[in-house]
Amino acid sequence: MTPDTVTITDNTTGKTIECPVYRGTYGPAVIDTKRLYSELGMFTLDPGFVTTASCRSAITFLDGDKGILLYRGYPIEQLAEHSYFLEVAYLLIYGDLPTARQMAEFDSHIREHSMVHEHLIKFYGGYRYDAHPMSIMVGVIGAMASYYHDTIDIYDQGDRDANALRILAKMPNIASKCYKYGVGQPFVYPNNALGYIENFMHMMFAQPSEPFVTNPVAIYALDLLFILHADHEQNASTSAVRLAGSTESNPYTCIAAGIATLWGRAHGGANEAVVHMLEEIQDIKNVRKYVDRAKDKNGSYRLMGFGHRVYKNYDPRAAIIRKACHAVLDAMGASAHRPMLEIAMELERIALEDDYFIERKLYPNVDFYSGIILKALEIPRRMYTVLFAIARTAGWLAQWMEMITDADFRIGRPRQIYIGSETRDYVPVAKRN
Ligand code: ACO
Repeated sequence: MTPDTVTITDNTTGKTIECPVYRGTYGPAVIDTKRLYSELGMFTLDPGFVTTASCRSAITFLDGDKGILLYRGYPIEQLAEHSYFLEVAYLLIYGDLPTARQMAEFDSHIREHSMVHEHLIKFYGGYRYDAHPMSIMVGVIGAMASYYHDTIDIYDQGDRDANALRILAKMPNIASKCYKYGVGQPFVYPNNALGYIENFMHMMFAQPSEPFVTNPVAIYALDLLFILHADHEQNASTSAVRLAGSTESNPYTCIAAGIATLWGRAHGGANEAVVHMLEEIQDIKNVRKYVDRAKDKNGSYRLMGFGHRVYKNYDPRAAIIRKACHAVLDAMGASAHRPMLEIAMELERIALEDDYFIERKLYPNVDFYSGIILKALEIPRRMYTVLFAIARTAGWLAQWMEMITDADFRIGRPRQIYIGSETRDYVPVAKRN
């Protein structure tokens, strides 16, 4: 066996194949098992894709053991400190940090595309007044496909760029309308004199009857959260975007697939679930009871915001948010939210000293503290995952665009082990027992 191959032998037949081994810039080596089926007649089984690389990607790298996260090679800590969301979005989509001129152009295009087609607004009216905003997001983004589907050539770079820009630009507008619809307030048009985050806050909270002033601390905090949520390699929602895109579907439906997948509590829905859990705990003195409940093997209760498929050390995004959380609460004068932060810190302390969590390498993830910040910013809870979706759209688009230009681009089609009945004959209903 050479260092660049792995030999796989079928011990039943004695047949052997040499599988190439690829090494990326960082991360574990990857065995290419493509010939396994044609030569040995076998598939691999990896439920949850724990050890399966689905693609080559140059966008994001994370090392779960060392707690490292890089966007296009830049450490997340540096981007969080020095960059801002729209610049990070450019970096993810185009591969490099923009020059001043490139950024000015990008920013101006984003502003120009902030409006949505007036007819699109009618889709909101089809939802119940109390619909979850993520449900509205899935539907409205999907509906956008109907405006552009016939004119998109996904193999044309100009078309890809134009539609990616359009989606990114319109996300805050579409998201803010989900909130306005639920509270029965009039939709607010974008104000293109405002930056991306500020415009979003304006569309969320402004009312025609009074002037609206955004708080710079809130803009800073949201921008930071957006940077931290912008991409995260081949997670569930990104894989859903790629799988939908692999069928040559248009980018609007691919993003709708991503939003649908993000919604679940095990993924983006965790930020909402964390605040629910902290409220339920109510008091520091109850924390241990909840930790014990999460450890009970007879129950299904889990500490929300704890654990991650890849991070087995500490989620570097959680470390950044944890620090920001104190600063934001102080700057906002949000002392009412202090008890919640204190419960969170106590929960983290007890869990991190507990053998159950140590043995399973369960640490707070990005969502553990983000909900507390969003609560302090008075963002309605059901909008938390929607905000995550706006930020992650940058990553989804970057991944979708990368996939289409990949030399290996083809429809995604996992295989299975069939464990159902053997072939049997149809029995007419009268003869069934
Ligand atoms: N609380 C208590 N126990 C947990 C938790 C938790 N939050 N997470 C995992 N465990 C336990 C499991 O019960 C399991 O124990 P066992 O080995 O005794 O059976 C062990 O840790 C491994 O858990 P898995 O479910 O196999 O880990 P997996 O990698 O499949 O799941 C996940 C990762 C979904 C994030 C999980 O840790 C979880 O449900 N966490 C809570 C929800 C959450 O915070 N999700 C946000 C993730 S980050 C994001 O998407 C932005």
